[in-house]
Amino acid sequence: MESDYKRILVTSALPYANGPIHLGHLAGAYLPADIYVRYQRLKQRDVIYICGSDEHGVPITIAAEKKGVSPQVIVDEFHYRNKAAFEKFGMSFDYYGRTSSKVHHETSQEIFLRLHKKGLFNRKTEKQLYDQKAKMFLADRYVKGTCPSCSYPDAYGDQCEKCGTTLSPAELINPKSALTGEKPVYKETEHWYLPLGQLQENVTKWIETKNYWKTNVLGQVKSWLNDGLTDRAVTRDLSWGIPVPLDHAEGKVLYVWFDAPIGYISATKEWATDKGDPDLWKKYWQDRQTKLVHFIGKDNIVFHCIMFPATLMELGDYVLPDNVPANEFLNLEGNKLSTSKNYAVWLEDYVQKFEIDPLRYYLTVNAPETKDADFTWQEFQQRNNSELADILGNFINRTLTFANKQYNGRVPERGVLDDLDKDMLKTLKEAPQQIGAMYETFDFRKAVYAFMDIGRAANKYFNDQEPWRTVKEDIEKCATTINICIHAVQTLAVLMEPLLPFSAEKAWSMAGHKDSVHAQQWDTAGEISLPAGHNLGKVTILFRKFEDSEIQPEIDRLRSISESLNSGQTETKPKQEKPKIGFDEFAKLDLRVARVIEAEKVEKTDKLLKLQLELGTEKRQIVAGVAKNYQPDEMIGKKIIIIANLEPVKIRGIESNGMLLAAEDSEGRLSLLGPDRDVESGAEIH
Ligand code: 2FM
Ligand code: ZN
Repeated sequence: MESDYKRILVTSALPYANGPIHLGHLAGAYLPADIYVRYQRLKQRDVIYICGSDEHGVPITIAAEKKGVSPQVIVDEFHYRNKAAFEKFGMSFDYYGRTSSKVHHETSQEIFLRLHKKGLFNRKTEKQLYDQKAKMFLADRYVKGTCPSCSYPDAYGDQCEKCGTTLSPAELINPKSALTGEKPVYKETEHWYLPLGQLQENVTKWIETKNYWKTNVLGQVKSWLNDGLTDRAVTRDLSWGIPVPLDHAEGKVLYVWFDAPIGYISATKEWATDKGDPDLWKKYWQDRQTKLVHFIGKDNIVFHCIMFPATLMELGDYVLPDNVPANEFLNLEGNKLSTSKNYAVWLEDYVQKFEIDPLRYYLTVNAPETKDADFTWQEFQQRNNSELADILGNFINRTLTFANKQYNGRVPERGVLDDLDKDMLKTLKEAPQQIGAMYETFDFRKAVYAFMDIGRAANKYFNDQEPWRTVKEDIEKCATTINICIHAVQTLAVLMEPLLPFSAEKAWSMAGHKDSVHAQQWDTAGEISLPAGHNLGKVTILFRKFEDSEIQPEIDRLRSISESLNSGQTETKPKQEKPKIGFDEFAKLDLRVARVIEAEKVEKTDKLLKLQLELGTEKRQIVAGVAKNYQPDEMIGKKIIIIANLEPVKIRGIESNGMLLAAEDSEGRLSLLGPDRDVESGAEIH
């Protein structure tokens, strides 16, 4: 840790309290954070770990509507269920808050008001989508439609899940209410906007100091900055959420992505109050010597790396994140996880059947650190059986069993050291520093490999020294070997604590300690000496092997879900057949040949071109997402096909009056469709 930091504040994304936790969540934002925090505690650093439930936003109200209950019922249920499941998984939060708390409502309103008084927000009246049947504005996920970037037909009003583009409802083509299926109308409403365009320069300067961040994170952030930041509304017309604390703002609440990250602050306040020192939170949030680290999944990058820091910068008296080590996604048996299709491994189910540490191990050794990863039950079983059980567990077990049998459960005396002994002791001594450096830089996979290599080295040492032979031929040598092996058991127990906390505690007590492994120090874990004669504890199996009969039902369950998904649903096969339509519906499309007469890049984006088209005698402007495959110059003169009667939409503030047709190959390259003979522009297509 850089020496100018005195304390560390770690957060994990607040999960929406609208459903249970699955392995994808754990691999993304939770397990790596817990490992990091446990490591920092062993380093004796001043660290706190904050998380909690995100209880606002459209995901919650949609879950409530589906079940026919109030949002409060949903968040109460999942707040407690998720908190309990996390505890079983060994998540060591210092505080697990919830955004429905009074402190959080007050903190969010206070921050909104401070920024409002400073004149930061732009207040604008705009036309937004409105469902006349449900009598409500359709914010975020309340509206679905076709993605303007990739034409995926089921994109949400805030994001296209296929291409990942962040959207606003007005950008969707052919929008439909997710509530009633109705075609929404435009209606005027007033909102407060965070002027991100105006804050871009500051954000860019700050990001430029973060060249040590993970490349997957920087890549996404830079693409946002290149595209150009635009104003983002921080209020919504919804009945569930934190009321906008202004006069004449009835029916308006704070946007969930405005209040949720503030949840980290309010949860820290609640933690401080619980500690009996209500002002203690300030030290963590307002003293520049705090290192703030946000652990999140990749879909949260823009909010944690741009929007929230921009807000904090404007407040001026808060620390900004030192790092945001976001992970990519975890897939499951080759398919995308899907909560709604029950295609997931739920933590609550897992803990009923298997031990925790093997899951922590596999999710880390196979973490989606730089690219998406795939969880398979077979690999989970194999890694548990042949790595945890056969290497780590085996070494600890054979050492302690040998000591029990030959030395009556006591540590034998160390004698003269040979080269192998010295090498082993050196490996153990250097291990904390070597593995610790990997944790500091969030290289969790590498750290686990390095840790297992210590286990391998210890096993090899045991084999090479052959204590079963020396016990008969050279008792001093045998005693030395076992003394060093017990030393290694202790080192491994401390070093495994961040990753395998339950087994670490067991191994520590098997080495005859009465205190907790948590009370140990990372730095000296390689040199914990035990006096000869020290009594060892009771030996139990550290890692049992998983049988095929336990694993196969899990594979079968997922396979049957994925088969039904693949036979005609969208989740795993986005390019599935679309439902049949009658000729009448096709005939509604006004498809025309158009000639491109002008083309220019839309500023600060790398996807969009603004095109002026000739359509017979008419001129048209459209915005098309083809800039990655076509330069403006090569577009000019081309005859293309457009849908001429799409309702106008605004993309990046530019009006688009139609959509061109293009084919997309399996690598995502676009190829424009056009007539194969020269046809005059404006010609109709039947
Ligand atoms: O994506 C999610 O699950 C969000 N609830 C994460 C919120 S993180 C934070 F800002 F609170
Ligand atoms: Zn898309």
